[in-house]
Amino acid sequence: METDWFDVKSKLGTIFYELSQEIDGFTKDFEAEVRIADPRFGDFQVNGILGFAKKNKKNPRELGAKLLAKAQQSKNLVNCSLELSGPGFINIRLIPDFLQRWVHTFHNQCDFKHRFAGKTIVVDYSSPNTAKQMHVGHLRSMIIGESIQRLLKYCGANVIRDNHLGDWGTQFGILIMAVKRAQIDVSTLDPEKALDEFERLYRNGVALTKQNESFSAEARRQLVALQKGDPENLHVWATINEVSYRAFDEIYKQMDVTFDYVFGESFYRDQIDHVCKDLEDLKIAEENQGALVVFHRDHDRFKDQPFLIRKSDGASNYGTTDLATVLYRVENFHADTMIYVTDGRQQDHFQQLFLTVKRWFSAKNIPLPQLKHVWFGTVLGEDGHAIKTRSGESIKLKQLIDEGIARALAIVKEKNPNLSATEQNEIARIVGTSAIKYADLSQNRTNNYVFSWDKMLSFDGNTAPYLLYAVARIHTLLRRLEIPSNEKREPKSMATFSTQEELTLARKLIDFPSTIAQVLDDLRPHYLCTYLFELASEFSAFYNANRIIGETTDIFEKRLLLCQFTLYVLETGLYLLGIPKLEQM
Ligand code: ARG
Repeated sequence: METDWFDVKSKLGTIFYELSQEIDGFTKDFEAEVRIADPRFGDFQVNGILGFAKKNKKNPRELGAKLLAKAQQSKNLVNCSLELSGPGFINIRLIPDFLQRWVHTFHNQCDFKHRFAGKTIVVDYSSPNTAKQMHVGHLRSMIIGESIQRLLKYCGANVIRDNHLGDWGTQFGILIMAVKRAQIDVSTLDPEKALDEFERLYRNGVALTKQNESFSAEARRQLVALQKGDPENLHVWATINEVSYRAFDEIYKQMDVTFDYVFGESFYRDQIDHVCKDLEDLKIAEENQGALVVFHRDHDRFKDQPFLIRKSDGASNYGTTDLATVLYRVENFHADTMIYVTDGRQQDHFQQLFLTVKRWFSAKNIPLPQLKHVWFGTVLGEDGHAIKTRSGESIKLKQLIDEGIARALAIVKEKNPNLSATEQNEIARIVGTSAIKYADLSQNRTNNYVFSWDKMLSFDGNTAPYLLYAVARIHTLLRRLEIPSNEKREPKSMATFSTQEELTLARKLIDFPSTIAQVLDDLRPHYLCTYLFELASEFSAFYNANRIIGETTDIFEKRLLLCQFTLYVLETGLYLLGIPKLEQM
């Protein structure tokens, strides 16, 4: 099997395009648009003839017939049976012998490294603000970002995982004011209770600023003093951050999330003045009511809605640190691409940031990196509104994760009473956190979704427990056969796939590479979830109807190959979603 058949869908696209170029009536802008077909009609379908014919006022059925005739003579397509269907589609079915060779060739060696080889990509994710505990609003960036960085690394990129903490913003002005007014020595706080105490002080501070403008002014002064390096304010600030990091780390550990850098906004504080001056000198930024802003005058909305980079009191802000960060990542990491994973409500911020960077870098002759905002919708409660506690506060992430683990533990204890408590706890941690991750990732990220414990912890349907169970089931089989899960076998003979379930499962396995390609196109992991769920369902149908143990060697070997490859794809896929390995459940 030639390696260029690894992604069958894309290979077919290339072949049909090339064939079309030898036919009168097709032009360069024809796109074959090969899609995965409804299995009743074929494995793939060439879909592009219709649209092309319409655009060029030609008869699609005629064009289709010409392309089909050419394809039937092509020696590149000897492994496919072809037919013309409907108003000009070409149905493609792969022959069983091809399916078999494909599975055998790529077993254990799916290689996607060429896709991003040589590219340096910064993924900016999680990035909560310090001084507060993480709440449910911080869930999605962590989960989606972790999956995306794994995918990019798997596809050969040099990935830099950066947790860009919000540790230099307005919350510190308010908090420092509140700490000072309460005359608290922050170094004496009990570390266990300090974060709650800071949250309480913060709430008090906010209440004060709402009461009276003089408190707001005081909070702004404290922030400016901090940003100018006032030692007392820096001390309070550093203590608060220390406490926050510890709480964040606990969550990252539970969720199997790790970073290469945790610089945070404050890391760039020495570069702020330079950024502002540079943009002013280049006439990109201008004074506006005492503040420094960037107008994008040729943009519909941003022509009267400027990008703020220095407030009128002299404080820097989110925009300023983000500008400094882009420059730093280009100069120090030589980043080709930066990916920001945040809530959809930050779309304006990132559009303005990217527009500003474009003008800034072009004025300085710095090659523009690719900047991409990967945004997501809101997590909703069962009532359809943003999820909240009963008293209306946002749910702490720690509590949410602990609850997931506790619920999973109850299920594990019931299903597997004979395991030791240590084993039960570790399985529960994996099942509970994976259920939360998977429920999030299986939704198109730009949609809102309803958070439901019952659904995400169910063993039926498109859930983590269902997939983890499918994996465990194959491990159990292999243990029983005493065959290592990753062993590459070279049997002397092997029967050809022939039963309906064998063929359907093999067909599904072939879609793994094109699924990865689809996920990467727009960084949407839900395509992978749907694929894994369908694969696990096909596997289940296969396993229930096709005996493995007790068959002759020929049949045993082909079915074992399907089991091993399915396991490999399921485990790889789950890894790419940030879900840990689990060999028994
Ligand atoms: N700290 C921000 C927040 O909590 C997210 C930061 C995203 N990254 C960035 N470079 N702006 O919403």
